[in-house]
Amino acid sequence: MTVLLTGGAGYIGAHVARLLKERDFDVVVVDDLTTGDSERIAGTDVVSFDLSADAAANDLSQIMKSRDITSVVHVAGKKQVGESVNNPTWYYRQNVHSMTNLLTAMQVNCVERLVFSSSAAVYGMPDVEEVDERVECSPINPYGQSKLVCEWMSRNAALAWGLRVANLRYFNVAGSGWSELKDPSALNLIPIVLKSLVEHRQPVVFGSNYPTPDGTCIRDYVHVLDLAAAHIDALEYLDRPDRSYDTFNVGTGTGASVYEVVNTISSHVGRKIQPVVDGRRAGDPARLIANVARIQNELGWKASYGLSEIISSAI
Ligand code: UFG
Repeated sequence: MTVLLTGGAGYIGAHVARLLKERDFDVVVVDDLTTGDSERIAGTDVVSFDLSADAAANDLSQIMKSRDITSVVHVAGKKQVGESVNNPTWYYRQNVHSMTNLLTAMQVNCVERLVFSSSAAVYGMPDVEEVDERVECSPINPYGQSKLVCEWMSRNAALAWGLRVANLRYFNVAGSGWSELKDPSALNLIPIVLKSLVEHRQPVVFGSNYPTPDGTCIRDYVHVLDLAAAHIDALEYLDRPDRSYDTFNVGTGTGASVYEVVNTISSHVGRKIQPVVDGRRAGDPARLIANVARIQNELGWKASYGLSEIISSAI
């Protein structure tokens, strides 16, 4: 059984690639290598092209045919909220057109299993203690909207020609499973704070007057290694005969505030950190915690790492 893994040279994709190989899956990676780096997955077959290009459906089809692909794990995608607000059409092209190409090639080649990297961004600003998968999706930026459109596209394919789909809605992914696979982007809270320490700057907290116990935003941080394992569980789940289309939150079910994250980093590095409080960042919900009952019950998946282990692995 050969798995086509898109985005496999990126931070999350490389964790999925390693774990798939550890579990004896054959893997072919497609990655445009704009943010990905093939060094992360040395020894794995990597084919490099832009999934959103018009020719990509044909290129994907060739790989599916020649490599006898039976399943696809689609991790590739653009994921910066701010960038998506400034350049929405390009975001739709990148995330949605890639999905069009992928589904076209899958249908032509009768490849019937898809695990898709979705995001908690599809929920928008839900006013609930814990978000479960039945909460109405109302994404508030083109990034989240593009992920939701992809979910709809695969649902339609499931209805039309029998595609089996597991959408994984990632919460706040962080940490690293192997020291050489740390998140290099410094686009999210934990790597941003770590980078500020290296550069002897004070980290910035976006808003301390939210309706939360310490006034800062609460998020559900999930270890990238746990997240990677969820993809494998999802692939195995799609092999069950009665499965067709399903969606799962991937989080821990536990929240941590920005101050809690900063304090945990502080105790791990043995240095006092005094962040600067700035204004709220547009579009930040006060609280976003996953209800994880569905993934636990259906996939038997449960996060095994907590915030402290996530942070120690990220340092
Ligand atoms: N934050 C700060 N200072 C910073 C950076 C972040 O205070 O320098 C705060 C944010 O305001 C937010 C929290 O830290 O309250 C986490 O912010 P991130 O930017 O790390 O993550 P987000 O929750 O905004 O978004 C992340 C991913 C999205 C995904 C979402 C799902 O970046 O792609 O989680 O929960 F959709």
